[in-house]
Amino acid sequence: MQTDSSFTFVLFGGTGDLSMRKILPALFEAHRAGGMLADSGKIVAVARHAADRGEYIQWVNEHVKPHVSKNGVDETAWSSFLERIEFVKIDLGNPEDFALLRDAVKDLPGIRVFYLATGPSLFVPICRALASVGLNENARIVLEKPLGYDLKSSNAINDAVGEIFAEEQIYRIDHYLGKEPVQNLLALRFGNALFEPLWRREWVESIQITIAEELGVEARGDFYDNTGALRDMVQNHLLQLLSIVAMEPPHSMDSDSVRDEKLRVLRALKPINPLDIGKVAVRGQYHSGVIRGTAVPAYATEPGVKPNSTTETFVALKVEIENWRWAGVPFFLRTGKRLADRVAEIVVNFRAVPHSALGASALRAGANRLVIRLQPNETIRLYCLAKQPGEGMNLASVHLDLAFDQFFREGQMEAYQRLLLDVINGRLALFVRRDEQEAAWRWVEPILNEWKASNKPPKPYAAGTWGPAAASAMLAQHGTCWLEEEN
Ligand code: BG6
Repeated sequence: MQTDSSFTFVLFGGTGDLSMRKILPALFEAHRAGGMLADSGKIVAVARHAADRGEYIQWVNEHVKPHVSKNGVDETAWSSFLERIEFVKIDLGNPEDFALLRDAVKDLPGIRVFYLATGPSLFVPICRALASVGLNENARIVLEKPLGYDLKSSNAINDAVGEIFAEEQIYRIDHYLGKEPVQNLLALRFGNALFEPLWRREWVESIQITIAEELGVEARGDFYDNTGALRDMVQNHLLQLLSIVAMEPPHSMDSDSVRDEKLRVLRALKPINPLDIGKVAVRGQYHSGVIRGTAVPAYATEPGVKPNSTTETFVALKVEIENWRWAGVPFFLRTGKRLADRVAEIVVNFRAVPHSALGASALRAGANRLVIRLQPNETIRLYCLAKQPGEGMNLASVHLDLAFDQFFREGQMEAYQRLLLDVINGRLALFVRRDEQEAAWRWVEPILNEWKASNKPPKPYAAGTWGPAAASAMLAQHGTCWLEEEN
């Protein structure tokens, strides 16, 4: 697709980890692909850790280049990409410096995008400083998560940013929404007539959504210890996935139709009763263990983490949605660091047949199940029952597999690339609207408060396992188990 939407992409936090690993590599990929970015588009990096453009380009060569194109860098494309980059040295603590930015961008073309790849405490000061030099006009602002620490602090940021930018100018990133497989979930649900009639309480017994990571907290111990898995993963990625799985068919794919339907789900989440928290929420923290043959240390000994930390690195929840489609169907959500495998998947467990004409073996063989694996190796697997060859009528569970890489060998796009192109082209559908974010905080907050008030430590689990045993016990109470516990 050829574009002529010119742009000036201003990157705050230009020497930060996110810029290095995700944002600049994604912009490079879009540049390399050709036709996705207007030739006149410029990137203006803002940082204070480089003296001038020359030093910044050197930093990009040393730190960003290793993160682009796993199969080697196209040198011609790389040099022309560097030509797009300008640099402005600004001390963000000094609002007067923003006059330098205004002068640097005033003659650059197109829509202005301000990407705040900085800590959330800088969001409001940066927006105010931009407004003070008139840079909030004809502009879009991109806010990275975490946006706030709870409902109050997120509202405070949204209120202050909202005084300077209109809601249609604000792009709140949740990178899960940019992932190809998450897009595919919309295609699966709303492009096929097959699943829709079954996608409801009459036919679905339970749904699981898991985002499991093998990685620990890496170099982010300090940030993570003040955040925890509920804020880091559940409030955003998991609730967004849940809302896409459970939403009603939208009228169209325009930004507000999709976001309105997601919001309806978030608002229909059954509030957690603090008295039930032990039954519907499990929090854990990893101890030392072994992952794929390598010994890894306990969370509490990671750099930046307090030795007696009670921050959770694992959460499992039972969630209910109070509407006609889903009443009574448990949704089990789970995420954790240092688990046995890196996998993100959605498991839809269908009900067993109401009466088995085929006898007891049919019931023993289980029921239909749809497993949508988002990463790694995007696949959709539909479990059905089939007759085992030979005498008698003995059934077994078999599966139909759809591996996406066998159908589409090219054209896969990283989440950040898609989302950055959407910002440049003014497409808001894959960004979180303020009311969605508020609804998510509103639902999550009683859990945070209850955990804090109870003062109980998280349940320990060994790194390289699937989390505390209590997470399995929670499902057992509903006569089910996590997918990996089948067999
Ligand atoms: C981020 C979290 O939003 O998502 C990280 O802050 C987490 O803690 C990451 O590791 C997971 O994303 P992905 O795309 O690797 O599954």
